[in-house]
Amino acid sequence: MANYRRRRWRDANTVRLDLNGLLAAAVGADGLAPGDLAELEPELVRVRDQIATSRAGGALAFADLPQRREDVKRVLEVAAEVRGEFDTLVVLGIGGSALGPRALAAALADESAGLRVVVADSVDPESFGALLGRLDVKRTLFNVISKSGETAETMAQFLIVRDRLLRELGAVDYKRHLVATTDAEQGVLRQIVNDEGFRALPIPAGVSGRFSVLTPVGLFPAAAAGIDVEELVAGAAHAEERARAAASPLAEPALALAGALWQLHARRGKSIVVLMAYCERLAAVGDWFCQLWAESLGKALDVRGRTVEWGQTPVRAVGATDQHSQLQLYVEGPRDKVVLFVRVEDHGAAVDIPATYQDLESVAYLGGHSLSELLNAEQRATELALVKRGRPSAVLTLPALNGFALGQLLYFLEMATVDAAALAAIEPFGQPGVEEGKRLTYGLMGRPGFEASQAEVEAWLASKDERFVL
Ligand code: PA5
Repeated sequence: MANYRRRRWRDANTVRLDLNGLLAAAVGADGLAPGDLAELEPELVRVRDQIATSRAGGALAFADLPQRREDVKRVLEVAAEVRGEFDTLVVLGIGGSALGPRALAAALADESAGLRVVVADSVDPESFGALLGRLDVKRTLFNVISKSGETAETMAQFLIVRDRLLRELGAVDYKRHLVATTDAEQGVLRQIVNDEGFRALPIPAGVSGRFSVLTPVGLFPAAAAGIDVEELVAGAAHAEERARAAASPLAEPALALAGALWQLHARRGKSIVVLMAYCERLAAVGDWFCQLWAESLGKALDVRGRTVEWGQTPVRAVGATDQHSQLQLYVEGPRDKVVLFVRVEDHGAAVDIPATYQDLESVAYLGGHSLSELLNAEQRATELALVKRGRPSAVLTLPALNGFALGQLLYFLEMATVDAAALAAIEPFGQPGVEEGKRLTYGLMGRPGFEASQAEVEAWLASKDERFVL
């Protein structure tokens, strides 16, 4: 029986949230006082009801993903088909269609159990060209991922790769090297798949890019990389169960964190949230979180159409490395930040520090400890250093970095994002602010129908004053 089916194992592997470091009792005036929490409670009740209504109405499709067994089954089937045939899986995608797969692979990929996974989310000719130059295409599977099926960067990558596959493998074999993950019904990529007949995986309706890590977008590359995707999904389901079982809104971890971050922003001017993971394998989860928090919450208008220009700027940091680059700013700079630590209790790999130079006190104390002890001590020390300077923080602790814990963490952060959106009355799933740039790019690239956009860019360039081009 899989470990995650055992209740005691699930309890022992539950991700915990510690909010003590952001209470006024710890950090003084920059923290949340009992009165703030009392005020927050009815807001959280409102949000909990609102989220329940949205879910019941089918408007939060991502939240129901842990229950979608059919997608996991299909992902496992396709992963089994390709195992043994390829050495490398290259993901072609961008934004939510790249950051989720990368977060999973970076955290848990096991090259001895699966394919090497490379996520190519760049159209930089230097890096994409170099990647293609290094690959043995005969042993490479390409997973093109695009919900819309028409993202310029992804489709450009796809066109280049397809062309090369056709030239090197011929008009029949090239298909075996492509898997498309896209909308089940719509879009140009779906049309291409239907016409050409290579393998395809569906992105469920209503799940947008940055909430798609637990769909085939993230799960297929993860399964190909040898990650136990059943365990990941079980972790997400566990986070959902914990939320459902919470006796009060403040006991619901994602909602409590969202409430605290929202209130710290609204009442204490904490407009920046730093996600600082003390585990390098979680650095890519930091990137994934940055997109989730930024693109979902950074909006000009609220749900009633009023101008709010709301948002909280996410920053990724990695401990202990960034203690030696960013921490000085967090401890002494503007009081505009809240730090969300991610701590891993058991790092698994035991790397001991030898007891040498016993006569040199300033290094001798390290001997006999392990690198995990040092890393975790640094996390605690940084947390307290912030507290002592009145800088709020919270800690998410993973007992160990496994699929079950990672599934909880990702689902938890997704729920916290929609909870924060509901508190701020923001629509979290669109990204209207990025559409203008897309239109202007289409214009510059000569897409029919976007001639006016091209003219606009040309007018902007012509209007530049040479005196200020230095
Ligand atoms: O979160 C989002 O919806 C976006 O970041 C998309 O993931 C990104 O723009 C890529 O879109 P698509 O999957 O349609 O190619």
